[in-house]
This record gives sequence, C-alpha cells and structure tokens, in this order.
Amino acid sequence: RFAYVNGRYIRHADAAIHIEDRGYQFADGVYEVCEVRSGRLIDEERHMARLERSLAELRIDLPMPLSALGVVLREVVRRNMVRDGLVYLQVTRGVAPRNHLFPAPGTPSSLVVTSRSASRSASDARAEKGVAVITVPENRWDRVDIKTVGLLPNVLAKQAAKEAGAYEAWFVDADGNVTEGSSTNAWIVTKDGVIVTRPAESGILRGITRSVILDLAAADGLNVEERAFSLEEAKTAREAFITAATTLVMPVVQIDGAPVANGAPGIVATQLRQRFHDFAA
Ligand code: PDD
Repeated sequence: RFAYVNGRYIRHADAAIHIEDRGYQFADGVYEVCEVRSGRLIDEERHMARLERSLAELRIDLPMPLSALGVVLREVVRRNMVRDGLVYLQVTRGVAPRNHLFPAPGTPSSLVVTSRSASRSASDARAEKGVAVITVPENRWDRVDIKTVGLLPNVLAKQAAKEAGAYEAWFVDADGNVTEGSSTNAWIVTKDGVIVTRPAESGILRGITRSVILDLAAADGLNVEERAFSLEEAKTAREAFITAATTLVMPVVQIDGAPVANGAPGIVATQLRQRFHDFAA
C-alpha cells in the first residue's frame, strides 16, 4: 500500500509525520473522505468545495492548487488499486515549534492522502438488516460545519455506540433535537411520509451524501423538509436512516434500544440507497 505525504508517494508502512505537526499537537487541520467506485471519485467537486471552505474558515493554505490535489487523489487510488473504497485526505497547518499562535508566514501546510478498499457487499448486507443507534448529549463546539480532525466527542460517541451494541451515536442538543451522528447525517421519515433532515446551517456538517440525497429526492418529487427534528419524533417516526460517504444511505431500525416502526429497514431509505447506487454507478 502507498500513501502520499508532503510531496512523495511512499509505502504506507513507512509513512510518517513530524512530531511537531500541528495536526498532531493541536488537531489544527481538516480532512475529507471521498467514496471511490470503480476506481472513480464520487462527488469530487463537492468534496473539494467543502475542503476549500473548511480551510478558508481556519485560514490554512492548501499546499497545492485543487486541480493538482485531484491528480494526487487519483494517483493514490491508482497505486493502491482501489476499485471500491475510500480516499482520505488531511491538511494541517504544518510543522512548527509548539505555540498556539499560527506558525510563521510561509510555513508549508502538511498534506497526507491515503486510500483503502471497502467491500460494497458488506455495506449492502448491513443495509439489508439496518443498524441500531444510541443517543448522547451534544457536547461539540459550535463550528461543526468545519470538517476538522478535532473529533474527540465523535470518537467517544462512536465508541459508546459500539459498547452498547449499536452502529452509530446521534448527538441530541439541549432542545431535545437530534443534530447528527458521530460520522453521519441523521434523517427520519414522518408518519405522513415526509423526509426530514436538519438544516445544514445549524449544528451539523453539510454532508456531501446528504446534499446528493436531497437532490435525488427532489428530482423524484419526494416530499422533503429541512428542519430540526426531536428525538421523540424520531422514536415515533415511520423510518430513520443515516448518510455518509462511508455508509451511503443506511437504514436505522433501532433508536436507544427501541425499534423504529416495525424494526425493519424502511422503504424510503432502501429506495434512496438504491438511487444513490444508480447515481454513483
Ligand atoms: N464523516 N457528519 C459528520 C460529523 C461526519 O463526520 C460526516 C462524514 C458526515 C457525512 O458527510 P459526508 O456525506 O460528506 O460523508 C456528517 C466521514 C465519512 C468520516 O469522518 O469518516
């Protein structure tokens, strides 16, 4: 396996970052995870646009033009012979003696790119059963719109889910509303058949998969509302599901130990998953 690290393609096992990299010391960096299908990057433009925005919000420079970054992403995918899987990229504010202040101007930011294969059939098998989610109090900062590598609350939430026998943890804010999952966006389908997901302007990451699903649902004339929904509403919903580049559309069949509707994957979620497969094919 190969990785790209600051200008070089090196063996994954030998890939390393300096101990004074600001990503390591301060989580001072951002990342993207992009799905790879048949060797192609899915939604590359939207991922690049979000990356640019995250970097701009934190005033970190991209060490190369976006077009060149696209070449690097494809080269890592090619060298690793990934057909179906993921490509991961991370940009940090670079290497400098530890100091909370930004490094001296001209300090190059660090760029790492890795990729790995991920079996689609395993994901499809999981989707046929659906997954369980638990809920945890929202305890993240208010800039979760930035895709930063500072993910401790997400790490702890995901681990709590795993230890509870669940697949994902949903954050619930002080108003009792579900914001999103530790690494996924959250959705429900109401009793009236309306697809609901929280607005991207408030307390969530603007998921690329979320945006694509909104487009596909609109194209199909489905009834969609971008609004906050409460945990109570989710528990009595007809369906629930989550979306991310890693899971695509994944039906949720249990929330905090109680079944969603009859406890089987919902029709809307299953159809949207298929729609996404067709879109990415
Ligand atoms: N996570 N919300 C959070 C907090 C996320 O970390 C992610 C993605 C999403 C979904 O975004 P997208 O559809 O663009 O993948 C929502 C990535 C996959 C990760 O951390 O592995």
